[in-house]
Amino acid sequence: MPNAETLLSVRDLKVHFRLRGGMLGLGRGGTVKAVDGVSFDLLRGETLGIVGESGCGKSTTGLAVLRMVPIDGGSVMLDGQDITRLEGTALRQVRRKMQMVFQDPYGSLDPRMRVLDIVGEPLKVHRLCQDGADYRSQVLELLRRVGLNPAMAGRFPHEFSGGQRQRIGIARALAARPELIICDEAVSALDVSIRAQVINLLEDLQQQLGLTYLFIAHDLAVVRKRSAKSSSASIAKLRSWLPC
Ligand SMILES: Nc1ncnc2c1ncn2[C@@H]1O[C@H](COP(=O)(O)OP(=O)(O)O)[C@@H](O)[C@H]1O
Ligand SMILES: [Mg+2]
Repeated sequence: MPNAETLLSVRDLKVHFRLRGGMLGLGRGGTVKAVDGVSFDLLRGETLGIVGESGCGKSTTGLAVLRMVPIDGGSVMLDGQDITRLEGTALRQVRRKMQMVFQDPYGSLDPRMRVLDIVGEPLKVHRLCQDGADYRSQVLELLRRVGLNPAMAGRFPHEFSGGQRQRIGIARALAARPELIICDEAVSALDVSIRAQVINLLEDLQQQLGLTYLFIAHDLAVVRKRSAKSSSASIAKLRSWLPC
């Protein structure tokens, strides 16, 4: 049962992708039931791990929570508010509270933009800065927070290592001052030692900022490390995902 401490409550979520027919639309179309009846609760300040083999619907679940794919059934409640069918300004406002960190930081960071503008974009989109000086100082503080040298703010993504690029992605997510961060395979592409550093950073940020994580991975070990400290209940839920 959701209670006051529940930040995210998902009930019987369904996302079905309708496929167009084959060439010229003449072939038989079909439906991919990417997510079909998923329910879970995520308590504020905790981590819920979602693990499962490739193609079982993990990313689609994350995107549905963010309302970035159409929802065909069920409900998503964030902070007590039913966001399943929100539109327009109301949807934009709740989107700020939920940010995503992707697997491939290089693919998700615009290669032509400087880090200053990548990390600062959410500040502009959500009008979280007063003027240019405030914008700059907030970005430099975000870079410091994720362990990057603020002097690198003028550089482009290709000038950073994989681990550093993931830190840039985390800084950008933090810029929106979210309550929930969905980490979709956020450390899966990183070398083991770098992966541990990024997981430690995520843990530190969770403690400092009271963040809540939905942590998606195909590798159970990663999820266990990230989720186990927060809640044994999370692990129980995580296991229920295994057979998918
Ligand atoms: N936009 C889409 N259109 C059609 N099928 C999709 C789309 N996105 C994902 N799928 C299909 O939905 C299923 C679940 O995909 P996904 O959520 O990406 O899985 P996972 O993240 O667990 O690897 C897969 O069969 C995938 O091919
Ligand atoms: Mg995926």
